[in-house]
Amino acid sequence: MQSLQQKASEWSGVPTEDAFSIDDTNLFQKLGLDTFINLSTNFYNRVYDDEEEWFRSIFANSEKENAIQNQYEFFIQRMGGPPLFSQRREKACKEMGDAELDGDHVKPENSFYSNPVIFKRLSLEKLWHPALIGRHRPFPVTHQAAARWLHHMQQALDSTPDIDDDSKTKMMNFFRHTAYFLVAGDELKNQNQQIPCKHAAKRDDS
Ligand code: HEM
Repeated sequence: MQSLQQKASEWSGVPTEDAFSIDDTNLFQKLGLDTFINLSTNFYNRVYDDEEEWFRSIFANSEKENAIQNQYEFFIQRMGGPPLFSQRREKACKEMGDAELDGDHVKPENSFYSNPVIFKRLSLEKLWHPALIGRHRPFPVTHQAAARWLHHMQQALDSTPDIDDDSKTKMMNFFRHTAYFLVAGDELKNQNQQIPCKHAAKRDDS
């Protein structure tokens, strides 16, 4: 059976090593905070104004300003900047108090975003990809949705000032691969299977 990474590579046309070439350079240092904020603002302006109602409706329960902040904090942290994304969730952890994890396994019904303690553990271990699947569980992340998301992101990258071509290529490869990784995760959900635990994720990487 194909792993999620293999499916992501096949469907996106991006080999895994190209997807993670975002780690070759510190893109946060290169581009700076404002560029990331501008990129996510640009992206979500397009999403919330999308003429395609089916796509716009996926975001109907999210406030645009929150969605923008969630996205740029994630990108900044993932691309070499300060851990803004984790810090905000760690704060939520403290507010909720500590809870016990179920071993090392994350059950789908206990998705990490609905449990900030699990999120914290996963984020510290840098298991971004499986964790993102958990966050996208409520949404229909289909092939069609991935293509539309990527269309808006390509346009946002092209029209945000100060993003050089090399950074754009690296980021777009990461986005393409991740988008189809999420589609593969969505298909698992539909087959009523479990989100991979960290051991499965390690196997995926091999
Ligand atoms: C959040 C949909 C791809 C990263 C969301 C949200 C929706 C969504 C509806 C909730 C908005 C919010 O409240 O923040 C989709 C769809 C995708 C897609 C349909 C198509 C494939 C991606 C990709 C990435 C990504 C490729 C990363 C490269 C995130 C992050 C959040 C988010 C970091 C915020 C999570 C949080 O704050 O809890 N997405 N997404 N998404 N998405 Fe996606």
